[in-house]
Amino acid sequence: MTAARSPHRHLLGIASLGREEIEALLEAADGFVELNRRSDKKLALLRGLTQINLFFESSTRTRTSFELAGKRLGADVVNMSVGVSAIKKGETLIDTAMTLNAMHPDILVVRHHDSGAVALLARHVRCAVINAGDGTHEHPTQALLDALTIRRRRGRIAGLLVAICGDIAHSRVARSNILLLTRLGARVRLVAPPTLLPAGMDRQYGVETFHDMRAGLEGADIVMMLRLQSERMQGSFVPSLREYFHFFGLTWEKLAAARPDALIMHPGPMNRGVEIDGVVADDIDRSAILDQVEMGVAVRMACLDFLTRDLRAAAA
Ligand code: NCD
Repeated sequence: MTAARSPHRHLLGIASLGREEIEALLEAADGFVELNRRSDKKLALLRGLTQINLFFESSTRTRTSFELAGKRLGADVVNMSVGVSAIKKGETLIDTAMTLNAMHPDILVVRHHDSGAVALLARHVRCAVINAGDGTHEHPTQALLDALTIRRRRGRIAGLLVAICGDIAHSRVARSNILLLTRLGARVRLVAPPTLLPAGMDRQYGVETFHDMRAGLEGADIVMMLRLQSERMQGSFVPSLREYFHFFGLTWEKLAAARPDALIMHPGPMNRGVEIDGVVADDIDRSAILDQVEMGVAVRMACLDFLTRDLRAAAA
């Protein structure tokens, strides 16, 4: 584990991280993977610190893994359930931020349905803020855990061909992954129907775009499937789920275009039979989907560790 300090107070997106910082986080996370496999998983690194998980959008794996990450490092972790909080009574985001700030948390982990809301909240609190997903903007810890998964399964990221497939338009996971993977030297392809692939992403991000799965998957080392995010869609982006599966759902037949050892990934939650055939998702040799979940806890521990190093050094 490196002793490097993060120059950032917050982790709001991959966009503000350099290659060396990403690599230092992945190194640290590697150490936490080993810790998490032991029966005694508890460290005292964050003892005395308070972590609040503030989720305005539902979440299973992200919220649970941030909670486990904080607890395994010894922090006191509080989950704010927005359903029963003042937000429902009309409180603004900034009032919520200032209220929480008055309770002296040391880390706030925030998920919000609006792009930019987490950065806005970060300007009104004194503690470190981690973006656990804001609208369609960024989901930095997801991209970090995906990178850790790829690195451990393939030994490297540079030079790999990664096809990110499906609902790119509504996906903060896609955006954070494009930024991270290109920064670490991977070649990225985006594969989606025109309605789900915003024009100009190829030039903006230096990636290739495809509207056909077999062409897009040709020679890919990694096939990253995305959930069709119906809750973010206003109007109809796909003719029908059956047709979407027919053209864009990952099946063995379409996967045959990729490299024979291509790794299958999905951030979850999965829509079986929509973006991915359940049989493909469950193949333990080819699918890294449960590895991604395991790496999620370790990566979040590394992020909590990095963002509190200055605080802990000042207290020592
Ligand atoms: C993703 C999210 O919430 O952005 N899920 C996750 O964090 N595991 C992707 C999704 O919801 O499809």
